[in-house]
Amino acid sequence: MGPNRTQVAIIGAGPSGLLLGQLLHKAGIDNVILERRSGQYVLSRIRAGVLEQTTADLLDEAGVSARMHREGLLHDGIELSFGGARHRIDLRALTGGKQVVIYGQTEVTHDLMDARSAFGGATIYEADDVVPHDFDSNTPFVTYRREGIAHELRCDFIAGCDGYHGIARASVPEESLKTYERVYPFGWFGILCEGPPSSDELIYARHDRGFALISTRSANVQRMYFQCDPKDSVDNWSDDRIWAELHARVDSHDGQHVKDGKIFQKNIVGMRSFVSATMQHGRLFLAGDAAHIVPPTGAKGMNLAVADVRLLTKALNAFYVENRSDLLERYSETALKRIWRAEHFSYWMTSMMHRIEGASPFEQQLQVAELEYVTTSRSAATVMAENYVGVAVPQD
Ligand code: APR
Ligand code: PHB
Repeated sequence: MGPNRTQVAIIGAGPSGLLLGQLLHKAGIDNVILERRSGQYVLSRIRAGVLEQTTADLLDEAGVSARMHREGLLHDGIELSFGGARHRIDLRALTGGKQVVIYGQTEVTHDLMDARSAFGGATIYEADDVVPHDFDSNTPFVTYRREGIAHELRCDFIAGCDGYHGIARASVPEESLKTYERVYPFGWFGILCEGPPSSDELIYARHDRGFALISTRSANVQRMYFQCDPKDSVDNWSDDRIWAELHARVDSHDGQHVKDGKIFQKNIVGMRSFVSATMQHGRLFLAGDAAHIVPPTGAKGMNLAVADVRLLTKALNAFYVENRSDLLERYSETALKRIWRAEHFSYWMTSMMHRIEGASPFEQQLQVAELEYVTTSRSAATVMAENYVGVAVPQD
Protein backbone atom coordinates (compact mmCIF):
# COMPACT_ATOMS: atom_id res chain seq x y z
CA MET A 1 0.00 0.00 0.00
CA GLY A 2 1.48 3.37 -1.05
CA PRO A 3 1.42 6.60 0.99
CA ASN A 4 -1.78 8.66 0.71
CA ARG A 5 -0.29 12.12 1.20
CA THR A 6 2.89 13.86 0.04
CA GLN A 7 4.07 17.38 -0.80
CA VAL A 8 4.89 16.79 -4.48
CA ALA A 9 3.35 13.94 -6.49
CA ILE A 10 5.60 13.19 -9.47
CA ILE A 11 4.18 11.36 -12.48
CA GLY A 12 6.87 9.44 -14.38
CA ALA A 13 10.18 7.86 -13.30
CA GLY A 14 12.33 8.79 -16.31
CA PRO A 15 15.33 11.08 -15.82
CA SER A 16 13.09 14.13 -15.17
CA GLY A 17 10.94 12.54 -12.47
CA LEU A 18 13.80 10.76 -10.75
CA LEU A 19 16.06 13.84 -10.71
CA LEU A 20 13.25 16.04 -9.43
CA GLY A 21 12.58 13.48 -6.69
CA GLN A 22 16.24 13.42 -5.74
CA LEU A 23 16.68 17.21 -5.62
CA LEU A 24 13.43 17.70 -3.68
CA HIS A 25 14.50 15.05 -1.19
CA LYS A 26 17.82 16.89 -0.72
CA ALA A 27 15.83 20.08 -0.05
CA GLY A 28 13.71 18.26 2.55
CA ILE A 29 10.58 18.22 0.38
CA ASP A 30 8.63 14.97 0.51
CA ASN A 31 7.68 13.38 -2.81
CA VAL A 32 6.20 10.22 -4.30
CA ILE A 33 6.79 9.02 -7.89
CA LEU A 34 4.09 7.16 -9.82
CA GLU A 35 5.38 5.24 -12.86
CA ARG A 36 3.32 3.24 -15.31
CA ARG A 37 6.09 0.79 -16.22
CA SER A 38 8.41 -1.44 -14.20
CA GLY A 39 11.86 -0.21 -13.14
CA GLN A 40 13.42 -2.80 -15.40
CA TYR A 41 11.45 -1.55 -18.40
CA VAL A 42 12.50 2.05 -17.73
CA LEU A 43 16.15 0.92 -17.71
CA SER A 44 15.79 -1.00 -20.96
CA ARG A 45 15.13 2.20 -22.96
CA ILE A 46 18.19 3.32 -24.87
CA ARG A 47 18.58 7.05 -25.26
CA ALA A 48 21.21 9.65 -26.12
CA GLY A 49 24.35 10.26 -24.12
CA VAL A 50 25.78 13.78 -24.23
CA LEU A 51 25.66 15.78 -20.99
CA GLU A 52 26.31 19.51 -20.97
CA GLN A 53 28.59 20.72 -18.21
CA THR A 54 25.66 22.37 -16.39
CA THR A 55 23.84 19.01 -16.49
CA ALA A 56 26.88 17.26 -15.03
CA ASP A 57 27.11 20.01 -12.38
CA LEU A 58 23.50 19.43 -11.36
CA LEU A 59 24.11 15.69 -11.06
CA ASP A 60 26.99 16.63 -8.72
CA GLU A 61 24.63 18.79 -6.67
CA ALA A 62 22.12 15.95 -6.55
CA GLY A 63 24.85 13.63 -5.23
CA VAL A 64 24.47 11.10 -8.05
CA SER A 65 27.58 11.76 -10.13
CA ALA A 66 30.26 9.44 -8.70
CA ARG A 67 29.98 6.83 -11.46
CA MET A 68 29.58 9.50 -14.14
CA HIS A 69 32.96 10.94 -13.08
CA ARG A 70 34.54 7.47 -13.11
CA GLU A 71 33.06 6.16 -16.34
CA GLY A 72 31.93 9.21 -18.33
CA LEU A 73 34.17 10.43 -21.14
CA LEU A 74 35.09 14.13 -21.25
CA HIS A 75 35.04 15.47 -24.80
CA ASP A 76 36.61 18.78 -25.87
CA GLY A 77 35.34 18.84 -29.44
CA ILE A 78 33.21 17.31 -32.17
CA GLU A 79 33.95 16.52 -35.81
CA LEU A 80 31.77 17.63 -38.72
CA SER A 81 32.23 15.48 -41.82
CA PHE A 82 31.15 16.57 -45.30
CA GLY A 83 32.53 16.35 -48.82
CA GLY A 84 34.71 13.44 -47.71
CA ALA A 85 36.69 15.48 -45.16
CA ARG A 86 36.47 15.98 -41.39
CA HIS A 87 36.55 19.35 -39.68
CA ARG A 88 36.96 19.76 -35.94
CA ILE A 89 34.90 22.14 -33.82
CA ASP A 90 37.01 22.85 -30.77
CA LEU A 91 34.24 23.20 -28.18
CA ARG A 92 36.63 23.91 -25.36
CA ALA A 93 38.68 26.61 -27.06
CA LEU A 94 35.59 28.32 -28.48
CA THR A 95 33.63 28.42 -25.22
CA GLY A 96 36.24 29.46 -22.69
CA GLY A 97 36.96 25.96 -21.43
CA LYS A 98 33.61 24.15 -21.51
CA GLN A 99 33.36 20.43 -22.24
CA VAL A 100 30.65 17.79 -22.55
CA VAL A 101 30.48 14.41 -20.85
CA ILE A 102 29.58 11.29 -22.82
CA TYR A 103 27.55 9.15 -20.44
CA GLY A 104 24.42 7.25 -21.46
CA GLN A 105 21.06 8.49 -20.23
CA THR A 106 20.27 4.92 -19.19
CA GLU A 107 23.26 5.10 -16.82
CA VAL A 108 22.04 8.42 -15.38
CA THR A 109 18.65 6.80 -14.80
CA HIS A 110 20.33 3.82 -13.13
CA ASP A 111 22.32 6.09 -10.78
CA LEU A 112 19.18 8.07 -9.87
CA MET A 113 17.24 4.87 -9.14
CA ASP A 114 20.05 3.63 -6.88
CA ALA A 115 20.13 6.95 -5.02
CA ARG A 116 16.35 6.86 -4.56
CA SER A 117 16.34 3.40 -3.09
CA ALA A 118 19.28 4.37 -0.82
CA PHE A 119 17.16 7.08 0.87
CA GLY A 120 14.01 4.99 0.80
CA GLY A 121 12.09 7.32 -1.56
CA ALA A 122 8.66 6.04 -2.53
CA THR A 123 8.31 5.02 -6.19
CA ILE A 124 5.15 3.20 -7.16
CA TYR A 125 6.05 1.22 -10.28
CA GLU A 126 3.38 -0.35 -12.49
CA ALA A 127 0.85 2.27 -11.42
CA ASP A 128 -2.08 2.03 -13.87
CA ASP A 129 -4.58 4.72 -14.87
CA VAL A 130 -2.70 7.57 -13.19
CA VAL A 131 -4.91 10.69 -13.29
CA PRO A 132 -4.17 14.17 -11.86
CA HIS A 133 -7.20 15.94 -10.29
CA ASP A 134 -8.17 19.36 -8.92
CA PHE A 135 -4.88 21.06 -9.80
CA ASP A 136 -6.88 24.26 -10.23
CA SER A 137 -7.31 24.23 -6.46
CA ASN A 138 -4.85 24.22 -3.53
CA THR A 139 -5.74 20.60 -2.80
CA PRO A 140 -4.82 18.56 -5.86
CA PHE A 141 -4.64 14.78 -5.79
CA VAL A 142 -3.69 11.91 -8.06
CA THR A 143 -5.59 8.66 -8.46
CA TYR A 144 -4.13 5.42 -9.74
CA ARG A 145 -4.62 1.67 -9.62
CA ARG A 146 -2.02 -0.85 -8.56
CA GLU A 147 -2.72 -4.54 -9.10
CA GLY A 148 -6.36 -3.63 -9.63
CA ILE A 149 -6.72 -1.71 -6.35
CA ALA A 150 -7.68 2.00 -6.50
CA HIS A 151 -5.49 4.53 -4.63
CA GLU A 152 -5.59 8.25 -4.01
CA LEU A 153 -2.52 10.38 -3.32
CA ARG A 154 -3.18 13.86 -1.92
CA CYS A 155 -0.49 16.51 -2.46
CA ASP A 156 0.36 20.22 -2.67
CA PHE A 157 1.71 20.05 -6.24
CA ILE A 158 1.77 17.66 -9.17
CA ALA A 159 4.83 17.39 -11.44
CA GLY A 160 4.11 15.94 -14.88
CA CYS A 161 7.39 14.21 -15.78
CA ASP A 162 5.66 11.55 -17.83
CA GLY A 163 7.14 12.09 -21.27
CA TYR A 164 5.60 13.01 -24.60
CA HIS A 165 2.76 10.44 -24.42
CA GLY A 166 1.96 11.07 -20.75
CA ILE A 167 -1.28 11.97 -19.01
CA ALA A 168 -0.16 15.26 -17.43
CA ARG A 169 -0.11 17.47 -20.52
CA ALA A 170 -3.22 15.71 -21.81
CA SER A 171 -5.03 16.71 -18.58
CA VAL A 172 -4.51 20.45 -19.05
CA PRO A 173 -7.66 22.07 -20.51
CA GLU A 174 -7.16 22.40 -24.24
CA GLU A 175 -7.89 26.13 -24.28
CA SER A 176 -4.92 26.78 -21.92
CA LEU A 177 -2.38 25.02 -24.14
CA LYS A 178 -0.74 26.17 -27.31
CA THR A 179 1.46 23.56 -28.94
CA TYR A 180 4.05 23.95 -31.70
CA GLU A 181 5.19 20.99 -33.72
CA ARG A 182 7.29 19.91 -36.68
CA VAL A 183 7.57 16.28 -37.74
CA TYR A 184 10.58 15.44 -39.93
CA PRO A 185 10.16 13.08 -42.88
CA PHE A 186 13.14 10.96 -41.79
CA GLY A 187 14.29 8.91 -38.82
CA TRP A 188 17.51 7.58 -37.31
CA PHE A 189 18.56 3.96 -37.46
CA GLY A 190 20.59 3.37 -34.27
CA ILE A 191 22.94 0.54 -33.40
CA LEU A 192 24.96 -0.44 -30.38
CA CYS A 193 28.01 -2.56 -31.08
CA GLU A 194 30.91 -4.12 -29.28
CA GLY A 195 34.22 -2.85 -30.57
CA PRO A 196 36.74 -0.02 -30.28
CA PRO A 197 35.83 3.65 -30.87
CA SER A 198 36.17 4.84 -34.46
CA SER A 199 37.32 8.29 -33.39
CA ASP A 200 38.32 10.23 -30.25
CA GLU A 201 35.35 12.54 -30.73
CA LEU A 202 31.77 12.31 -32.03
CA ILE A 203 31.45 12.59 -35.81
CA TYR A 204 28.38 14.27 -37.32
CA ALA A 205 28.39 13.48 -41.04
CA ARG A 206 26.50 15.04 -43.93
CA HIS A 207 26.52 12.87 -47.05
CA ASP A 208 24.43 12.78 -50.22
CA ARG A 209 23.15 9.37 -49.03
CA GLY A 210 22.01 10.94 -45.76
CA PHE A 211 23.19 11.91 -42.28
CA ALA A 212 25.25 9.66 -39.99
CA LEU A 213 26.56 10.01 -36.44
CA ILE A 214 29.38 8.12 -34.79
CA SER A 215 29.07 8.24 -31.00
CA THR A 216 30.40 6.10 -28.20
CA ARG A 217 29.44 4.67 -24.83
CA SER A 218 32.78 3.32 -23.56
CA ALA A 219 36.11 1.87 -24.75
CA ASN A 220 34.24 -1.30 -25.80
CA VAL A 221 30.70 -0.18 -26.69
CA GLN A 222 29.91 2.15 -29.59
CA ARG A 223 26.70 3.94 -30.59
CA MET A 224 26.15 4.84 -34.24
CA TYR A 225 23.23 6.17 -36.24
CA PHE A 226 22.31 6.82 -39.85
CA GLN A 227 19.37 8.66 -41.38
CA CYS A 228 16.65 6.31 -42.64
CA ASP A 229 12.99 6.18 -43.58
CA PRO A 230 11.11 6.35 -40.24
CA LYS A 231 8.75 3.64 -41.55
CA ASP A 232 11.61 1.26 -42.42
CA SER A 233 12.06 -1.90 -40.34
CA VAL A 234 15.26 -3.09 -38.63
CA ASP A 235 14.57 -6.49 -40.24
CA ASN A 236 15.47 -4.99 -43.63
CA TRP A 237 18.99 -4.23 -42.43
CA SER A 238 21.55 -7.03 -42.17
CA ASP A 239 24.75 -6.22 -40.27
CA ASP A 240 26.66 -6.12 -43.57
CA ARG A 241 24.22 -3.65 -45.09
CA ILE A 242 24.49 -1.41 -42.01
CA TRP A 243 28.30 -1.34 -42.12
CA ALA A 244 28.30 -0.64 -45.85
CA GLU A 245 25.99 2.33 -45.29
CA LEU A 246 28.06 3.75 -42.40
CA HIS A 247 31.30 3.37 -44.38
CA ALA A 248 29.76 5.07 -47.41
CA ARG A 249 28.59 8.03 -45.35
CA VAL A 250 31.41 8.53 -42.85
CA ASP A 251 34.74 7.19 -44.21
CA SER A 252 36.93 10.09 -45.25
CA HIS A 253 38.91 10.55 -48.44
CA ASP A 254 42.16 10.58 -46.48
CA GLY A 255 41.62 7.04 -45.20
CA GLN A 256 39.92 7.48 -41.79
CA HIS A 257 37.21 4.86 -41.55
CA VAL A 258 34.48 3.63 -39.23
CA LYS A 259 35.54 0.59 -37.23
CA ASP A 260 33.12 -2.34 -37.51
CA GLY A 261 32.04 -4.20 -34.36
CA LYS A 262 29.58 -6.83 -33.25
CA ILE A 263 26.11 -5.28 -33.44
CA PHE A 264 23.89 -6.23 -30.47
CA GLN A 265 21.05 -3.71 -30.71
CA LYS A 266 19.18 -2.02 -33.57
CA ASN A 267 16.33 0.49 -33.42
CA ILE A 268 14.65 3.20 -35.49
CA VAL A 269 13.54 6.50 -33.98
CA GLY A 270 11.32 9.15 -35.54
CA MET A 271 12.25 12.82 -35.38
CA ARG A 272 10.09 15.63 -34.15
CA SER A 273 10.26 19.11 -32.68
CA PHE A 274 7.51 19.93 -30.21
CA VAL A 275 6.85 22.64 -27.62
CA SER A 276 3.95 22.98 -25.22
CA ALA A 277 3.25 26.49 -23.99
CA THR A 278 2.29 26.74 -21.25
CA MET A 279 4.15 24.26 -19.08
CA GLN A 280 1.94 24.85 -16.05
CA HIS A 281 -1.68 25.02 -15.08
CA GLY A 282 -2.61 25.85 -11.49
CA ARG A 283 -0.62 23.42 -9.37
CA LEU A 284 0.38 21.11 -12.22
CA PHE A 285 3.84 21.65 -13.71
CA LEU A 286 5.29 19.89 -16.76
CA ALA A 287 8.99 19.04 -17.11
CA GLY A 288 11.12 17.23 -19.70
CA ASP A 289 9.64 15.37 -22.66
CA ALA A 290 6.12 15.98 -21.30
CA ALA A 291 6.57 19.60 -22.39
CA HIS A 292 8.98 19.49 -25.32
CA ILE A 293 10.76 17.26 -27.82
CA VAL A 294 13.82 18.02 -29.92
CA PRO A 295 15.29 15.93 -32.74
CA PRO A 296 18.41 14.22 -31.34
CA THR A 297 20.88 15.95 -33.70
CA GLY A 298 21.84 18.60 -31.14
CA ALA A 299 21.89 16.12 -28.21
CA LYS A 300 19.69 18.46 -26.18
CA GLY A 301 16.81 16.19 -24.97
CA MET A 302 18.06 15.20 -21.56
CA ASN A 303 19.87 18.49 -20.98
CA LEU A 304 16.62 20.39 -21.43
CA ALA A 305 14.82 18.01 -19.08
CA VAL A 306 17.48 18.59 -16.44
CA ALA A 307 17.27 22.37 -16.90
CA ASP A 308 13.47 22.26 -16.32
CA VAL A 309 13.96 20.20 -13.19
CA ARG A 310 16.56 22.64 -11.86
CA LEU A 311 14.11 25.55 -12.27
CA LEU A 312 11.18 23.66 -10.83
CA THR A 313 13.16 22.57 -7.78
CA LYS A 314 14.28 26.15 -7.16
CA ALA A 315 10.70 27.40 -7.48
CA LEU A 316 9.25 24.73 -5.16
CA ASN A 317 12.01 25.35 -2.66
CA ALA A 318 11.23 29.10 -2.67
CA PHE A 319 7.59 28.23 -2.03
CA TYR A 320 8.25 25.93 0.93
CA VAL A 321 11.19 27.74 2.52
CA GLU A 322 10.44 31.42 1.85
CA ASN A 323 6.70 31.23 1.22
CA ARG A 324 7.23 32.79 -2.24
CA SER A 325 5.20 31.72 -5.23
CA ASP A 326 6.64 34.15 -7.82
CA LEU A 327 9.18 31.64 -9.14
CA LEU A 328 6.46 29.03 -9.53
CA GLU A 329 4.29 31.55 -11.35
CA ARG A 330 7.14 32.33 -13.77
CA TYR A 331 8.31 28.71 -14.20
CA SER A 332 6.93 28.17 -17.70
CA GLU A 333 7.99 31.59 -18.99
CA THR A 334 11.54 31.14 -17.68
CA ALA A 335 11.91 27.55 -18.88
CA LEU A 336 10.63 28.33 -22.37
CA LYS A 337 13.51 30.74 -23.09
CA ARG A 338 16.08 27.97 -22.89
CA ILE A 339 13.73 25.54 -24.61
CA TRP A 340 13.22 27.72 -27.67
CA ARG A 341 16.98 28.32 -27.95
CA ALA A 342 17.55 24.54 -27.96
CA GLU A 343 14.62 24.00 -30.32
CA HIS A 344 16.21 26.37 -32.81
CA PHE A 345 19.67 24.82 -32.46
CA SER A 346 18.35 21.26 -32.87
CA TYR A 347 16.29 22.26 -35.90
CA TRP A 348 19.27 24.11 -37.40
CA MET A 349 21.67 21.20 -37.00
CA THR A 350 19.06 18.78 -38.29
CA SER A 351 18.28 20.88 -41.36
CA MET A 352 21.94 21.50 -42.17
CA MET A 353 23.02 17.88 -41.95
CA HIS A 354 20.19 15.68 -43.25
CA ARG A 355 19.32 14.66 -46.78
CA ILE A 356 16.03 16.40 -47.50
CA GLU A 357 14.04 14.40 -50.05
CA GLY A 358 13.11 16.60 -52.98
CA ALA A 359 15.67 19.30 -52.13
CA SER A 360 16.95 21.02 -55.26
CA PRO A 361 20.67 21.02 -56.12
CA PHE A 362 20.64 24.70 -55.09
CA GLU A 363 19.31 23.84 -51.64
CA GLN A 364 21.88 21.05 -51.28
CA GLN A 365 24.68 23.49 -52.06
CA LEU A 366 23.32 25.84 -49.38
CA GLN A 367 23.76 23.06 -46.79
CA VAL A 368 27.38 22.64 -47.83
CA ALA A 369 27.96 26.41 -47.86
CA GLU A 370 26.66 26.61 -44.31
CA LEU A 371 28.89 23.75 -43.16
CA GLU A 372 31.88 25.40 -44.87
CA TYR A 373 31.11 28.58 -42.95
CA VAL A 374 30.70 26.82 -39.59
CA THR A 375 34.03 25.06 -40.07
CA THR A 376 36.06 28.02 -41.34
CA SER A 377 34.74 31.11 -39.56
CA ARG A 378 35.58 31.41 -35.88
CA SER A 379 32.37 33.32 -35.18
CA ALA A 380 30.20 30.73 -36.95
CA ALA A 381 32.04 27.90 -35.18
CA THR A 382 31.46 29.69 -31.88
CA VAL A 383 27.70 29.72 -32.53
CA MET A 384 27.83 25.96 -33.01
CA ALA A 385 30.10 25.38 -30.00
CA GLU A 386 28.29 27.54 -27.46
CA ASN A 387 24.96 25.96 -28.33
CA TYR A 388 26.39 22.44 -28.26
CA VAL A 389 27.89 22.85 -24.78
CA GLY A 390 24.74 24.67 -23.59
CA VAL A 391 23.89 28.36 -23.69
CA ALA A 392 23.45 30.22 -20.43
CA VAL A 393 20.04 31.84 -20.73
CA PRO A 394 19.41 35.11 -18.83
CA GLN A 395 17.25 34.67 -15.70
CA ASP A 396 18.25 31.02 -15.44
N1 APR B 1 1.45 7.35 -15.80
C1 APR B 1 2.64 7.11 -15.18
N2 APR B 1 3.83 7.16 -15.80
C2 APR B 1 3.82 7.46 -17.11
C3 APR B 1 2.62 7.73 -17.82
C4 APR B 1 1.41 7.67 -17.11
N3 APR B 1 0.24 7.92 -17.71
N4 APR B 1 2.95 8.02 -19.09
C5 APR B 1 4.28 7.92 -19.19
N5 APR B 1 4.82 7.58 -18.01
C6 APR B 1 6.25 7.36 -17.70
C7 APR B 1 6.98 6.59 -18.78
O1 APR B 1 6.83 5.20 -18.64
C8 APR B 1 8.42 7.04 -18.55
O2 APR B 1 9.13 6.19 -17.68
O3 APR B 1 6.92 8.61 -17.62
C9 APR B 1 8.29 8.42 -17.91
C10 APR B 1 8.77 9.52 -18.82
O4 APR B 1 10.15 9.37 -19.03
P1 APR B 1 10.90 9.90 -20.34
O5 APR B 1 10.09 9.61 -21.54
O6 APR B 1 12.28 9.36 -20.27
O7 APR B 1 10.89 11.49 -20.17
P2 APR B 1 11.78 12.42 -19.25
O8 APR B 1 12.00 11.84 -17.91
O9 APR B 1 11.22 13.78 -19.38
O10 APR B 1 13.21 12.36 -19.93
C11 APR B 1 13.58 13.16 -20.95
O11 APR B 1 14.16 11.35 -22.37
O12 APR B 1 13.37 11.07 -24.54
C12 APR B 1 14.44 11.44 -23.75
O13 APR B 1 15.60 13.00 -25.05
C13 APR B 1 14.76 12.84 -23.98
O14 APR B 1 16.68 12.71 -22.78
C14 APR B 1 15.38 13.19 -22.70
C15 APR B 1 14.68 12.47 -21.68
C1 PHB C 1 24.24 9.22 -28.55
O1 PHB C 1 25.38 8.92 -28.16
O2 PHB C 1 23.29 8.45 -28.41
C2 PHB C 1 24.02 10.56 -29.18
C3 PHB C 1 25.08 11.46 -29.25
C4 PHB C 1 24.89 12.68 -29.84
C5 PHB C 1 23.67 13.01 -30.38
C6 PHB C 1 22.61 12.12 -30.31
C7 PHB C 1 22.79 10.89 -29.71
O3 PHB C 1 23.51 14.20 -31.00
